[in-house]
Amino acid sequence: MQQLYKKQIIVGISGGIAAYKSADLVRRLQDQGAIVRVVMTSGAQAFITPLTLQALSGFPVHTDLLDTDAEAAMGHIELARWADLVLIAPASANTIARLCHGAADDLLTTLCLATKAPVAISPAMNQAMWHNPNTQANLDTLRQRGTVVIAPGVGSQACGDVGPGRMPDSEVLVDAAIACLSRGSMQGVRVVMTAGPTREAIDPVRYISNHSSGKMGFALAEKLAEAGAHVTLISGPVSLDTPARVDRVNVVSAADMLDAVQQHIDSCDLFIAAAAVADYTPAQVANKKMKKGDDDMSIALVKTTDIVATVAALSNKPFTVGFAAETNDVVAYARGKLQRKGLDMIIANDVSDSRIGFNSDDNAVTVITADAETHIEQLPKRALAAALVEHIAPLFWRTHNP
Ligand code: PMT
Repeated sequence: MQQLYKKQIIVGISGGIAAYKSADLVRRLQDQGAIVRVVMTSGAQAFITPLTLQALSGFPVHTDLLDTDAEAAMGHIELARWADLVLIAPASANTIARLCHGAADDLLTTLCLATKAPVAISPAMNQAMWHNPNTQANLDTLRQRGTVVIAPGVGSQACGDVGPGRMPDSEVLVDAAIACLSRGSMQGVRVVMTAGPTREAIDPVRYISNHSSGKMGFALAEKLAEAGAHVTLISGPVSLDTPARVDRVNVVSAADMLDAVQQHIDSCDLFIAAAAVADYTPAQVANKKMKKGDDDMSIALVKTTDIVATVAALSNKPFTVGFAAETNDVVAYARGKLQRKGLDMIIANDVSDSRIGFNSDDNAVTVITADAETHIEQLPKRALAAALVEHIAPLFWRTHNP
């Protein structure tokens, strides 16, 4: 099945060494049935010729805002109206900055201002430029305004550096285009997720818990619902409002959370475990308040059932995503959990840093799958959740092809 059948896609190419990969991208989009027109910045033309892209796309390549020939045929407004999707790959740091500031000084930025179609960008640049706070702030602004930012790959770069900033393979970009052109990237997906802490009672007035506020899980539930998913959010005790269009189930203990998950799991496609579930619970709960004595006391604890591992072991398991809260060797420990618990993806955060993780408004994560790692820099949890949805959607659809 061609998942982009007759979809009209403008591939915008800006100046960067990754521009050579755009030629393959055009072909792979066409393989999925898309009609592709190419717009190139002047920088892009230093790396790859319009003639190459014209031969591949089968259409003249658009390069100039004020080209009278182009205006007569396909001007920026016509291109903006024609597009079902504008996919800029590679998006250079300069193009990202100009998009962020609403520049209209070349054809590509002008048509992005004029179009009502979704705009997706695939940032590709040197890792230091990627890490630069200006670039990250520009990307954050673009995300908040609805631009889909496709996470770059990590690895060795043309300049000799190693780090994030590589343009992903065409397959990843095609999956992202498919996700953008579904009405929402998670349209119709049935999601069950957990969030917040659990409370393990010691007696009627005392309990063992942790610092999870639920902010990360609730933000993710909100963004999944905005992307069209049906979300059931199983939440430990938190003081947060339920996001719009999300069904909420309140629980207290790890055992309650397991029960609730088991009640809802059969009818779900995607399970996300963002809750900080207690690993141990008191072996016995006193039914009356325990009295203070003269001596020290100890409480016997027993292990709780691992909820996410239980879900991942189901014969009809949904696509299963865990979180990992670590204080050191974050990625290595998270990768161990990915394997031990049988997950499809794990999102690792460093909870030793008080600016991110538990109970903070921001987070920074590394998304880990069996064969890839992507770092998402510190962002407000809502913006990070939006980036996570963009990341989860193509991988989810790869395994749940309609
Ligand atoms: O709630 P916030 O204040 O916004 O903070 C967000 C967060 C730090 C809680 C969140 O981003 C996060 O990392 N959640 C997972 C916390 C955790 O329990 O991590 P873990 O490494 O101990 O567990 C690994 C995975 O196993 C998690 O998906 C957890 O939900 C799951 N688990 C753990 C134990 C258990 N009995 N059952 C489980 O399902």
